[in-house]
Amino acid sequence: MPAWLKDAVFYEIYPQSFCDTNGDGIGDIEGIITKLDYVKSLGANALWLNPIYDSPFKDAGYDVRDYKKVAERYGTNDDLVRLFEEAHKKGIKVLLDLVPGHTSEEHEWFKKSCEYEPNDLWNRYIWTNGAFCGIGGHPYIGGEAERDGCYMLNFFKCQPALNYGVLNRTEPWQMPVDHPDCIATREAMKDIMRFWLDKGCDGFRVDMADSLVKEDDEVKSATGAIWQNIREMLDKDYPEAALVSEWSNPECALKYGFHADFYLDHHGNGLNVLFRDGETEGGDHSYFKKDGGDSPMRFLADYEHKYENSKKYGYISFITCNHDTPRCTKTMGIDELKVAYSFIFTMPGVPFLYYGDEIGMRYLENVKTKEGGFQRTGSRSPMQWDKSAKNYGFSEADSDKLYIPVDASSDAPAVSSAEADADSLIHTVRSIIALRHAKEDLQADADFQVVYAKEGERLFIYRRGSLVIAVNPGEKEEKAYKKDCADILSKAGEIKGNLIYGIGTADLTDDAVVLGPQSFAIFE
Ligand code: NOJ
Repeated sequence: MPAWLKDAVFYEIYPQSFCDTNGDGIGDIEGIITKLDYVKSLGANALWLNPIYDSPFKDAGYDVRDYKKVAERYGTNDDLVRLFEEAHKKGIKVLLDLVPGHTSEEHEWFKKSCEYEPNDLWNRYIWTNGAFCGIGGHPYIGGEAERDGCYMLNFFKCQPALNYGVLNRTEPWQMPVDHPDCIATREAMKDIMRFWLDKGCDGFRVDMADSLVKEDDEVKSATGAIWQNIREMLDKDYPEAALVSEWSNPECALKYGFHADFYLDHHGNGLNVLFRDGETEGGDHSYFKKDGGDSPMRFLADYEHKYENSKKYGYISFITCNHDTPRCTKTMGIDELKVAYSFIFTMPGVPFLYYGDEIGMRYLENVKTKEGGFQRTGSRSPMQWDKSAKNYGFSEADSDKLYIPVDASSDAPAVSSAEADADSLIHTVRSIIALRHAKEDLQADADFQVVYAKEGERLFIYRRGSLVIAVNPGEKEEKAYKKDCADILSKAGEIKGNLIYGIGTADLTDDAVVLGPQSFAIFE
C-alpha cells in the first residue's frame, strides 16, 4: 500500500473544462499547471485527470485511439510530463485514467482486428465466427468489417470490448482466459501503465475495472486474477503507484489488488441515499436533505459491511460527485452541502472532490449533449474562476466556441467571489480538509465506529479513532443521551469533549449530545 494514500485528498479534473490557456475554448494541460497552487490551496494533494489521450472523443476521451499519446487539444506528452514534475514539486500526485475494457473503434489495434486476413491482433477484441452470428446478452456490431464476424461492445457503439477471454464459455468463438492472445491483452495494458509510470505518473483511476473477462462468475474471480497480476507488477516495480477502481464493490475490488474503490452513485445504494435519493417515491429522502431527509440507517446498512469486509485490504473512496453524476447542487443548497462535505472528508478511506464542487458549481439543466455526455454534460461545464472575467476566466474564446457553455445564471458561483465571502462553501472545504491533514484520526486508516444512529432519527454520531463526530442535517435541534450511545460516549466522564470543528451549534452536556439545526461537530 503506497503510504501517501493514508493522507491523500484527491481533486478530480475533467480536463476539457478546467482551464483553457490557448483560447480554443477547451481546457489544456498548461491550464492545469497554472492552477496547481489553487488545487494545493484547497488541501488536495493528488489529482485524477479524466482521459487525456488521443481520441475521436465520442465518449469524452473514454474512447482511446492511442494510449501513449496526449490528445493534441490538451498539449503534448512533454506537457504532461511537465505537469507531473510541477505537481510533484508542490507535493501533488497525479493519477491518469486507464481505460482497459475497450478502445475507440479508431484504435490501430481495432483496425488490424477488423482485417480480412488473420493477423497477430485478430483476437485483441471479442469477435464471433460469422457476420450473422450475434452475441446474446451483450451489445454487438455486425456487418462493419471485412472480417466475417460480429464484435462485442463494452459501452457505446464506438467502444469495442478488448478480449481478456470468457470464463463460462458456451460458444465456439469464445476464448479461454488463459489463451495467449487474452494474456497478450493484459500484457498490453501493463505496457501502457509502465509507459506512463516511467514518465512520472503516480497511478491510475481504472475505468469499468470489473468489465474485463466476460461471463465471469459472481465474484468476478477471473477479472480479479488479472488485477492481482497487475498489482504484482506494481508492488514489484512501482510500489508507490496507486490503483483506484471504478467498481463500487470494495469487497471484491480491494481483495483483487486495488488500493481504493469508488463509492459510486448507484440507485438505492449507500452513497445514493445520502445525497441523491430524489427519485424515490414521495420526495427526496436523502440523508443530507434538511427537510424530508431520512435517518442514516439506509446508508449504514449498505456501508458498514462494505467497510468492515474490505478495510484490511484497502480504502473506500467517497466522492462529492464525478463527471458521470449530477452535482449535488441539483437538489441541495449550500448549507446542506457544508454538512455533507464535512461528513465526506471525515470518513475513512480516500476522498475525492470533483472540480467546482468546492464553490457549489451548479448542475446545468438543458445543456446540449457534448461528446457522448447526454445528461452527464450538465456536470461537466467550465470551471468558474473569476466572476468578472470573460467566461469566468475559463477561456478567452468567444462563448460560442466553448466546449460546453458556462453557467449563465446571474448568481453563478466563482472562485473569486467565494474567496471573498467568509461564509462560502470553499472555506468549509478548506477547513475540513486542513483538519483532516492535521489529525491522523480523520485520515484513511483510523477506525470508524457508529456511536449513535436510530431509525426515524436524524442525528448520526460516529467515532474516528479518538474523535467523536456528530451530524444533524435536519432543520430541528436533535439530542442523543450518552447512555444510548455506543463505546466512548457512554463512558461520559472519560471524555474531554473539546469541540475542534463546528458548523451550527453543538453541545456536549453531562448526559447528552445536543446538535442545533444543520450542525456538524467534531469533539476530541
Ligand atoms: C465510466 C466513465 O466514468 C464514463 O464517463 C465512460 O463513459 C464509461 N466508463 C465508458 O468508458
